Amino acid sequence: MTDTAPPAYAIDQLISAKAIAARVEGLAREITAHFAGTDKLVVVGLLRGSFVFIADLVREIELPVEVDFLEASSYGDAMHSSREVRILKDLRGEIAGRDVLVVEDIVDTGFTLHHVIYLLQARGPRQLKVCALLDKPTRREVAVKADWTGFEIPDEFVVGYGIDYGQRNRNLPYIGKVRFTGAP
Ligand code: IMP
Ligand code: MG
Repeated sequence: MTDTAPPAYAIDQLISAKAIAARVEGLAREITAHFAGTDKLVVVGLLRGSFVFIADLVREIELPVEVDFLEASSYGDAMHSSREVRILKDLRGEIAGRDVLVVEDIVDTGFTLHHVIYLLQARGPRQLKVCALLDKPTRREVAVKADWTGFEIPDEFVVGYGIDYGQRNRNLPYIGKVRFTGAP
């Protein structure tokens, strides 16, 4: 039998829960100011990594909001982008003529966000903006940028606050970087 146990790793805190909360509040303030006066903002969370972020963010946005979700697959395996983006779960609602805010956990190579923006723009929203919690600008392969970014981070594999490594660690309240410690 082959051993399929993942390599042993430790998680070093990169961004504290307190720092995240303060930044989310700041982002929500800017987003509220930008969309002020719009009828009902559609906040689109990209599953699964954005679920914690979107939950905190919408509670700080002081406007009527509707929440919808889209799931796109981008990662071929746990750590490497497949460069091929597929829609696994589409929105439930229509966005034609609506004001839309896409909420993403991390912009890495940019393939996912680029594809999602292309797909959603084709549906004719009145405006489409993007808020990403994290950005790894040095990893970019497709030119794409969020309108609001929580934190720019170095090229590290991160987990926590909704973000996983092999479907684990989404429930950490902070963001940490994965450090491999040797054989399992
Ligand atoms: P992109 O298409 O390369 O920009 O990939 C973006 C997606 O890959 C993000 O939405 C995450 O789901 C995932 N991803 C990128 N970097 C990390 C990371 O450091 N930890 C966990 N998931 C990541
Ligand atoms: Mg994602």
